[in-house]
Amino acid sequence: MAQQKTILRALAGETLDTPPIWMMRQAGRYLPEYKATRAQAGDFLSLCYNPELAAEVTLQPIRRYGFDAAILFADILLLPQALGADLWFVTGEGPRLSTITSADELSKLKPTDAIHDTLSPVYETVKILSEELPKETTLIGFAGAPWTVATYMIAGQGTPDQGPAHALKAENRPVFEGIIDRITEGTIAYLSKQIEAGAECVKLFDSWAGSLQGDDFKDFSVKPMQQITAALKEKHPDIPVIAFPRGAGTKYTGMHAAIGADCVAIDDRVDAAWAAKHVQIDGCVQGNLKSSHMVTGGDALVSETRRICDALGKGPHIFNLGHGITPDADPANVQLMIDTVRGG
Ligand code: CP3
Repeated sequence: MAQQKTILRALAGETLDTPPIWMMRQAGRYLPEYKATRAQAGDFLSLCYNPELAAEVTLQPIRRYGFDAAILFADILLLPQALGADLWFVTGEGPRLSTITSADELSKLKPTDAIHDTLSPVYETVKILSEELPKETTLIGFAGAPWTVATYMIAGQGTPDQGPAHALKAENRPVFEGIIDRITEGTIAYLSKQIEAGAECVKLFDSWAGSLQGDDFKDFSVKPMQQITAALKEKHPDIPVIAFPRGAGTKYTGMHAAIGADCVAIDDRVDAAWAAKHVQIDGCVQGNLKSSHMVTGGDALVSETRRICDALGKGPHIFNLGHGITPDADPANVQLMIDTVRGG
């Protein structure tokens, strides 16, 4: 049967008159209804592990805006938690984890098969969503890419330059590579279960790919994402994969083939016209409006949105931001972006 969902058509390489649109962090604190449901859940992690409420916040931006895709509500740090790391969120600061920097700590991580004990509520969320989403909306599952997840597991928190992970890579290569391998294996198992529960596409977030230089970029951003993609394609050949090596710059060239991904998501440091020439020639591109336009709005939002649609309009394109929407964004600006994309 011919594919009707616009996101899946773009992912299959089709050029559409109007690009389908969704937004990173579309379920989030800029929405009053999200804040209300989060308060009902108690805290962020309780929300992630409550299938009914996680499905509810996933659906909120679909109801409000009619995005073409819904992204499962969860977090990239649930996998480290499932592998045995302690995880908590400090209000106003971000995530905190128990650190893993030695062979002994690495050996104490749980076996891959055991991750589902912790993650089964996430699969239940996917199942609820696959039943409740409008028939034209694509359900996207996701995970962090191994390098990005490793930076949090090694440092125990977000870091401006991923210093602790770079240091471990230099000082104890076997342990660093062991962490990457365990995350890679866990991610394959985690995303396979999301797909079996009803995810129609999966996205790998390598938010800190930009801090890897030279061979490190190939070895620790590209290679693990390629391994995950290949393993998923073997089991689920029809499920498209979106890869987001944020900050890759000129290394975005050739990325579809290097990872085996159906779509490459670009951040806002890449020019859309450059990406059309150097990235979109190989397949679907997702991106890349600066998220600050969701705060500032106005004519600049409209003209930038049009410029990106024009630059990427001659090939397969999924409209998105270059990174997640921030809590200070105005929900009205999101509507303005959607109207601009859909209204021309
Ligand atoms: O996009 C979506 O709507 C789906 C859900 C989603 C969340 N996090 C929910 C979330 C997704 C896809 C993520 C990915 C994620 N999580 C990434 C990769 C993408 C990126 O932003 O670079 C990373 C690095 C994380 C780790 C993480 N989670 C951090 C650093 C933080 C704190 C920063 C912040 O924005 O507060 C989180 C918390 C988080 N994850 C929130 C949400 C909605 C905010 C938590 C809250 O409600 O208080």
